[in-house]
Amino acid sequence: MFRRGKSVVGLDLGSQVVKAVEITLEGPEPVVTGFARIEIPPGGDKAQALAELFKRGRFRAKQVVTSVAGQSVVVRYVQMPKMSESELRQAIKVEADRYVPFELDECVMDCQPLRRHGTKSGEGDAKQAKDDNMTVLLVACRQQMIDEQIKLVQAHNLQPLAIDVDAFALANAWELCGLPDEDAVDEPAASADGSAKPKEEKAIALVDIGASRTSINVLAGGETCFSREIGIGGHDMTQAVARKLGLEVFEAEAIKRAGDDKEADVARSIQPVLEDLTNEISLSLDYVENHEGLRVEEVLLSGGGALAPGVIAYVEQATGRTARTWNPLEGLRVADDRVDVEELESWAPSLVVALGLASRVRAA
Ligand SMILES: Nc1ncnc2c1ncn2[C@@H]1O[C@H](COP(=O)(O)OP(=O)(O)OP(=O)(O)O)[C@@H](O)[C@H]1O
Ligand SMILES: [Mg+2]
Repeated sequence: MFRRGKSVVGLDLGSQVVKAVEITLEGPEPVVTGFARIEIPPGGDKAQALAELFKRGRFRAKQVVTSVAGQSVVVRYVQMPKMSESELRQAIKVEADRYVPFELDECVMDCQPLRRHGTKSGEGDAKQAKDDNMTVLLVACRQQMIDEQIKLVQAHNLQPLAIDVDAFALANAWELCGLPDEDAVDEPAASADGSAKPKEEKAIALVDIGASRTSINVLAGGETCFSREIGIGGHDMTQAVARKLGLEVFEAEAIKRAGDDKEADVARSIQPVLEDLTNEISLSLDYVENHEGLRVEEVLLSGGGALAPGVIAYVEQATGRTARTWNPLEGLRVADDRVDVEELESWAPSLVVALGLASRVRAA
C-alpha cells in the first residue's frame, strides 16, 4: 500500500552554493519530490552547509549522486581502433598513460565509446583510418577527490550511488526534460551554381556558468561530442564589480544580484570578465565546428553566473550564435505538496547539474 517509486538525490557540491534535487520515479515518470539549496558563506565549511541542506530538504531518498569537476578531473576524446567494450577496457589501461597527467594508480578511470565519430569525411587512406576508428570518451579523476566525496556523503548516512562529472550532468539534465531535438540535419542547400552543398549537422552548446568555473558540453544528435571547463565564473564577476566600484566583495555580491539602479554599473564592470569568458567559449565552439564538421547554432546558458546583467546578450553578440537561458524543469512534474514550487522555479537555471545528477534515478 505504501510502496513508492525509487528516489535519488542529485547533490551538486558547488563551490559557492550546494544544491540538492530529489527525483522520484512514479511509474516511468520522473517527478521532482525535493529541493534545497544553501549558500556557503565566504570562508564557510562545505560539510556544515551539507548538514543544513539535508535538514532543510527532508529528502526521502538515501541514495545520492554527486559530481566532480576542476583540476582533479581529466576528460579526453581518444581515437582508438574499433573493438568491443571489454577489449576497450583492457586497451585503455595501456593507452591512458598518454592522456592522463596523474599517476594511474592514484586515479579512478572510466571510458565509453561514443556513437558519433565526427562527420568530416576524409578521403583515401584518411577515410579508411576514420572508418576503422572510434572516438572514446576517457575520464580520469584523482582517487583522493572521489574518496573525499564518498566520506562526505556517508557522514550524512547517505549512500553514494554514482559520481558524475559536471559537464556530463548538463547533458543528462537536457535529456531528462526531453526538450525538442535541436540536432537535426539541415536539408542540403542549393548553391548559386545549382550544386547541392553538403549537409551540415546542427549542434547545441550547454554552458553552465558557476561561481568558480564554466562547464561546456556540446551535443550533436543528443550525444556529447565535446566538453571543456574554463576557470572563469561568477566569482570573477563579483571581484570585478568590487574593484571597479570600490566595494568589499560581499557588497559587490549583493549589488551584482540586486538588479536595481546599479545594474548598468554592474554590466559595465563585468565586461572584461565576459570578454575573457566568451573568447574561450568562442574558441571552443569554433574548434568543435571545424573538428567535427557541424554547426553549433545555439548556446543554452545555466548556472548562477548566467543571471548577471547583460550576460545573455554579451554571449550572443560575442559568439555570433543565439543564446538563452534554459529551464531544466520544463516538462517535469513537481510534487507541490513537498516542494516550494515558486522557490524551485526561481533558482531553476542554477539547478541544471543537480537535476542531471538526480536523473540517474532511471538507472538506479
Ligand atoms: N541573480 C544573480 N545575478 C548575478 N549573479 C548571480 C545571481 N544569483 C547567483 N549569482 C552568481 O552565481 C554564482 C553561483 O552560481 P552556481 O550556484 O551555479 O555556482 P556553483 O555551482 O556554486 O559554482 P561552481 O560550479 O563554479 O563550483 C555566484 O557567483 C553568484 O554570485
Ligand atoms: Mg556549479
